[in-house]
Amino acid sequence: MKATITATAKYLPKRVLTNFDLEKMVDTSDEWIRTRTGIETRRLVSKGQASADMATEVAKILLERSNTNKNEIELIIIATVTPDTIFPSTAARVQHNLDAQSCWGFDLSGACTGFIYALETGAKFIESGKYKKIMIIGVDTMSSIIDYTDRNTCVLFGDGAGGVLLEPSINDNGIIDSILGIDGAGGESLIMPGGGSLHPASADTIKKKMHYVYQDGKTVFKVAVRGMADISSEILKRNNFTGDDVKLFIPHQANKRIIDATAKRCKIPDERVLINIDKYGNTTAATIPIGIDEAISDGTIKDGDLVLTASFGAGFTWGSMLIRWGK
Ligand code: ACO
Repeated sequence: MKATITATAKYLPKRVLTNFDLEKMVDTSDEWIRTRTGIETRRLVSKGQASADMATEVAKILLERSNTNKNEIELIIIATVTPDTIFPSTAARVQHNLDAQSCWGFDLSGACTGFIYALETGAKFIESGKYKKIMIIGVDTMSSIIDYTDRNTCVLFGDGAGGVLLEPSINDNGIIDSILGIDGAGGESLIMPGGGSLHPASADTIKKKMHYVYQDGKTVFKVAVRGMADISSEILKRNNFTGDDVKLFIPHQANKRIIDATAKRCKIPDERVLINIDKYGNTTAATIPIGIDEAISDGTIKDGDLVLTASFGAGFTWGSMLIRWGK
């Protein structure tokens, strides 16, 4: 039995931060940001708004679009590196906000690969035969861990949420295959060092700015280009597909140059590659479900289409997935 996506949703906060706004905050330029990353604007939460708020908006849309009662949801998996609190989980907050009475749930930390990790996890619960309706939501409030005086990171990230409802397939559509990986050797290249059990929050960790994202961009860029291209071409090859068979490639949106290099290696033409990094920047666990929802909403993906998705992120973590769209 395959697991398939039966509803999609996204939520982007209203506040817009443009490259021109950033020019006034750090030593950068619209031209540098656009040519190096592809980003033009990103969305930021308003004061008091956090990951569970955005995830709850997504969850409500999923219930409405799938005509599902809140008490039919059996499991909520939230992929995030910016939970409202380390505990309780964001999943618990979303359950409470929905007043969903018959589920359990948990948060999953896979950084930019979090949504693919969560989708794989949810799919296994569906394939077990025990679960019929699972919510998978990718959400990140990156603005809560970004130093807006550090030009190396503050131009890259945005806030947002996206999600899907996962159910058993009726016509053998859904998730065909996945490749997932992790390598902690790359940990120091992309990290928020403070606030965990290794460096609990203290006056010293705050002084040293350890509660912000640190990234060695060059190292991550090199590994990400190779990693995304390798797992995308491998998953196509081992399922006897080529780039020609892919209706839409929905990659993680970290850098347009990484996406272009991956698509080129897989011989997927530009018009079949989803790009929204220009509007939203890197929303970490949310980029892929936001992309999926956009492609469904504008009719780019239809039943029967082959969809490829791939990501690379902190950890390092990586994942690719092939989906045959439809129930
Ligand atoms: N504006 C102007 N100049 C800048 C800016 C900025 N915003 N940021 C950095 N620079 C400078 C650097 O200081 C450097 O200056 P120097 O040569 O005097 O030291 C110069 O620009 C070149 O820096 P590079 O790092 O070589 O620039 P690069 O072309 O690599 O682009 C970027 C940087 C965009 C960060 C890129 O390396 C990148 O996208 N890396 C990968 C990001 C990624 O995939 N992350 C993984 C997912 S995220 C997650 O998992 C949470």
